[in-house]
Amino acid sequence: MEATGGLTNPMREPELDVMVEELKRKESPSSMVGILDDDSHAWKHLERTLMRTKQFLRIAGTAAAIVILAVGGMLMRSARAQSEHGDDGESRIQQGFAISPVPLNLAGKNRALVGHGSYLVNGPAMCAACHNPGPNNASWLPGGNPFFGQPLQINPATFMSGGRNLGTLGSTNIIARNLTPDGTGLPAGLTFAEFLLIMRTGVDRDQVHPPCSGTPEPGCVPPPNDGRLLQVMPWPYYQNMTDHDLQAIYEYLSAIPCVAGPPAPSLLHHDCD
Ligand code: HEC
Repeated sequence: MEATGGLTNPMREPELDVMVEELKRKESPSSMVGILDDDSHAWKHLERTLMRTKQFLRIAGTAAAIVILAVGGMLMRSARAQSEHGDDGESRIQQGFAISPVPLNLAGKNRALVGHGSYLVNGPAMCAACHNPGPNNASWLPGGNPFFGQPLQINPATFMSGGRNLGTLGSTNIIARNLTPDGTGLPAGLTFAEFLLIMRTGVDRDQVHPPCSGTPEPGCVPPPNDGRLLQVMPWPYYQNMTDHDLQAIYEYLSAIPCVAGPPAPSLLHHDCD
């Protein structure tokens, strides 16, 4: 074992042996040995002290090895417990892969992050609940609408492509965006840094609905709502997620298929090639 192997070094037992041998050699040039030669009592005392030191070092070494083994064992046990019950457990990763309604492109992706991200997007974080085309635009496959009491079947052709109208603010409709990766492979065309900023602050980089300035302006958001921020989108809650969770969501959104959506110049359009 590496840990115990490393322990013998600081004890320097071989060095003590060399010291004892050197002291025994009468012709040794060491001035100390010269003194000891004439005084056998002092010599025996020194030898006894050295032997005791060796013994102490051996006991200390064994004790340290036991402590290291015990601590190592505890760490291994707690790591195992964490993977069985913890947030990042293999069970959540597997559950994530099981509930993803679309095939995933894992090339160059971190498998654990993708699985964990799918678990969040399709489970507790419910991103797909809003980022779909809405009830009248085939969010479910025919016969797969859970609110009709049918077994859930999400339409993979429109998954996470947005379009759902979540209501009006002043003269503007608040519409969920297309979060699928575009041709560059980035979800909604966002780098991870941009995505993180949006999820933490709610800033709308596309400035889809500017704040109303007073002059008649179609599509603006009236105060007290701040049109510079994403509306309805639950970023005030998502901002409390850990970096790791947000990274997992981003990794999953990078692995789902691109959906072109309506033709350009619609904001919902993605160039998939
Ligand atoms: C309650 C509905 C709802 C849920 C749930 C939701 N979103 Fe949104 N999201 C929206 C709406 C609506 C917009 C656009 C808001 C606007 O135009 O002001 C938006 C916009 C976004 C944007 C900005 C896209 C861009 O191009 O700038 C990102 C990123 C985003 N959502 C990510 C997510 C993620 C990730 C989740 C799940 C963790 C999620 N959303 C869950 C409604 C939702």
